[in-house]
Amino acid sequence: MKRVITYGTFDLLHYGHINLLRRAKAQGDYLVAALSTDEFNEREKGKRTYFPYERRKQLLEAIRYVDLVIPEDSWDQKVTDCEKYQVDTLVMGDDWEGRFDFLEDRGVDVVYVPRTPEVSTTQIKRDLFSESRLPQGQAS
Ligand code: CTP
Repeated sequence: MKRVITYGTFDLLHYGHINLLRRAKAQGDYLVAALSTDEFNEREKGKRTYFPYERRKQLLEAIRYVDLVIPEDSWDQKVTDCEKYQVDTLVMGDDWEGRFDFLEDRGVDVVYVPRTPEVSTTQIKRDLFSESRLPQGQAS
């Protein structure tokens, strides 16, 4: 049984997230998704999520590629998570390229997969706020 782990906020779940989760699962047999808590997002990532942790967790748990959702509440937990869940491979989008290579020294393969172009939660929020996305005639 090959175990894979990935980390993220996964707010307003979109097809970029699904692609990432599919590619992560394809690296092994069992996928753990470590989901950033609301506090961790605010404190460390400067993000305020639209959906709270429990809602984001429910959504992730409904994805067929995800076997287990655990909370991410510190940057330092990766080493202990990898031991606890006997992780073989950590997968992240390539916006994180190089950041977690130190896990290789602990016997964990670290794989960065290409980000899906042109979609992010930040972009979705921006677009929905922007007048340019309103139907013709509604922009004032
Ligand atoms: N991801 C991806 N392709 C995208 C968006 C995200 O592969 N278009 C990956 C990220 O690289 C990360 C995981 O999905 O490994 C979770 O990313 P997250 O930061 O939660 O998603 P974003 O949409 O990038 O959110 P934000 O705009 O808030 O940073």
